Amino acid sequence: MKAQMKNLNLLLLLLLFSLHLTSVLSWKKDEFRNCNQTPFCKRARSRKPGYSSLLATDVTISDGDLVAKLLPKDLNDQINPLILSISAYQDGILRLRIDEDPSSDPPPPKKRFQVPDVIVPEFDNKKLWLQTLSTETFHGDASPSSVAYLSDAYEAVLRHDPFEVYVRDKSNGNRVISLNSHGLFDFEQLRAKKTKNEQQNEGDHHQDQDQNQDQDQDEAHDQAQDHNHDHDQNEDDWAETFRGHTDKRPYGPQSISFDVSFYGADFVYGIPERASSFALKPTRGPGLEDHSEPYRLFNLDVFEYIHDAPFGLYGSIPFMISHGKSYGTSGFFWLNAAEMQIDVLSAGWDADSGISLPSDRTRIDTFWMSEAGIVDTFFFVGPGPKDVVRQYTSVTGTPAMPQHFATAYHQCRWNYRDEEDVDQVDSKFDENDIPYDVLWLDIEHTDGKRYFSWDRVLFPHPEEMQNKLAAKGRHMVTIVDPHIKRDDSYFLHKEATQKGYYVKDANGNDFDGWCWPGSSSYPDTLNPVIRSWWADKFSYDNYVGSTPSLYIWNDMNEPSVFNGPELTMPRDSLHYGGVEHRELHNAYGYYFHMATADGLLKRGNGNDRPFVLSRAIFAGSQRHGAIWTGDNSAEWDHLRVSVPMILTLGLTGISFSGADVGGFFGNPEPELLVRWYQVGAFYPFFRAHAHHDTKRREPWLFGERNTELIRDAIHVRYMLLPYFYTLFREANTSGVPVVRPLWMEFPSEEATFNNDEAFMVGNSILVQGIYTEVQL
Ligand SMILES: *[C@@H]1O[C@H](CO)[C@@H](O)[C@H](O)[C@H]1NC(C)=O
Repeated sequence: MKAQMKNLNLLLLLLLFSLHLTSVLSWKKDEFRNCNQTPFCKRARSRKPGYSSLLATDVTISDGDLVAKLLPKDLNDQINPLILSISAYQDGILRLRIDEDPSSDPPPPKKRFQVPDVIVPEFDNKKLWLQTLSTETFHGDASPSSVAYLSDAYEAVLRHDPFEVYVRDKSNGNRVISLNSHGLFDFEQLRAKKTKNEQQNEGDHHQDQDQNQDQDQDEAHDQAQDHNHDHDQNEDDWAETFRGHTDKRPYGPQSISFDVSFYGADFVYGIPERASSFALKPTRGPGLEDHSEPYRLFNLDVFEYIHDAPFGLYGSIPFMISHGKSYGTSGFFWLNAAEMQIDVLSAGWDADSGISLPSDRTRIDTFWMSEAGIVDTFFFVGPGPKDVVRQYTSVTGTPAMPQHFATAYHQCRWNYRDEEDVDQVDSKFDENDIPYDVLWLDIEHTDGKRYFSWDRVLFPHPEEMQNKLAAKGRHMVTIVDPHIKRDDSYFLHKEATQKGYYVKDANGNDFDGWCWPGSSSYPDTLNPVIRSWWADKFSYDNYVGSTPSLYIWNDMNEPSVFNGPELTMPRDSLHYGGVEHRELHNAYGYYFHMATADGLLKRGNGNDRPFVLSRAIFAGSQRHGAIWTGDNSAEWDHLRVSVPMILTLGLTGISFSGADVGGFFGNPEPELLVRWYQVGAFYPFFRAHAHHDTKRREPWLFGERNTELIRDAIHVRYMLLPYFYTLFREANTSGVPVVRPLWMEFPSEEATFNNDEAFMVGNSILVQGIYTEVQL
């Protein structure tokens, strides 16, 4: 029996690998949901302007905040009042929160998830304690508004009926940013399921249904729900199925959606991570096809991703920036770690709605939808591009200051095979007069993908190997991923199991999924105690074979689960404090990255600045280390799209980022490789990396002329290292990114607003890449 099980596992593994191989040819779009296959997105998108009927009542000042209740106009609607609060912070930052009222009757079945440890503690000191409110009424408008101070130049306005929140310029009354101006606000409240037995029955029942049936029922239900707010116990509310995976929803649907408008805007940017244009193209409205997709924020291991698509990749930062000639720059951030979908609406989308907003200036409307969480949003008034990044990083933190070596050139490959390979690659750099600072080891250096261990046949002397590099001033990076091999003889698995430190499945058992080591479990780094335990694993005693010149790389931390829905963890998995995975999915990798960086700080008694590269990101990841854009391909289009990807990351706080030079999948033509080095030398994070099935491509393998060109590119980077280091410090103190869009330096040059190809390094160097073949 046991042997048979083993064979079955082997078969599964082989199957898995062959899936991976075929998918190398093209991205498997069907693996991933679109909006229509995502009930909350489909529901939200079908609503029309003016849908929301909430009004603000009981407006008052409490603890320095403006506080109000949101009630449905029609009191027959079966929903509890929501609590709204508006806080003002120094430097033109407004925070708007909306959540369920814990004192309502009946009370909500549980507290909704609020993302912890993203807002920096110092931000609290910037709060302005509101003292007074004024009330104003517009002509012919029975509904008053409450007005509060935001700064000497701006004020916050809460209109009561229907409720709407906006910031306006005091000098001319012009709006800057508004929320719910189109009445699309919706907040699905948590419900308790009947009994455990009934829940079980319904769950089982669902598993038997095929997908089509499920979709039909969803549709019927969506229509029913949109006609009234009546939250009848509909069985589809408690589970949904996608490609054979059933996701139980013990609290029913709990999504939130609303519209946000940016005034005086010509373009909007931000909301990484995706491989698409820098200025975000509209996703809905006149001129767009009905099936166009919203921008998706859901951290996924999208291997072989395609360029120019709205699909989300490995990281999510729900922060959008607008820029335009008539106002300048403003920003909007929603601190929420659940799946999010965002539409950018094309002009005229609201033509039939009867809603008219001040139209003297250009405006961009957007629509935000999230599966769970609360409304915790920040409006940044700018008005300059650097003001907005400063305001945003005063909430989520400025980037960590890297060590000098980490800003230089990195050499990586899956995999440098053994100690001899490492030695040879290292010497060849010297022989060819090409500088480099860091040599990387991917998953094959471990003993059977057990992190914190070494394959002792290939790497019998890890300390000696590192010390040899260190003697030349060089460093090494090894990979440590969150999937822990479920092997009873593995110390890490034993400890995590005994202490109960793994994420749980919907039934409360340790979640078990497939990743590189086979059957794996994942530490629940949402819990600070588990983060601290994880951090201790990086001490020199615990990580046997590590030395002070060794740093870390976190991959697959979306988390990637090969046999999970959309290659990730099921949404009904459970975290510390009863938090459902759906509520924090986009921040899982963030907490893992944080715990790893803390580990390196602890290891060096706080005297050594960590270097940790992460693939998954969330708002605030800039405090924990560098990030890269994941598994790109050796294609000209991927070289080109790396620039808008890195610019977008920089605008949203993540200064220290780069794309794999040469492209991870496939074999670059020598000319493409050379061009990639020439652009990559100006990426903040400059690393070459390649998939295991590719040909070797160290810089000296393509003939003398190409070696010379690559050498020159790397030499230019080394020449500019003091300049880069200064810019990293500038980012560290102000949030202003190392690599910037042209309009950050030249905010009124309209021609730069949607330039995707050129960028500024600091305020003094303009870089224009070459993205097509010209026959060198
Ligand atoms: C700069 O980076 C250091 C090291 O990562 C960090 O401790 C510090 O908080 C950052 N910010 C500032 C303003 O120095």
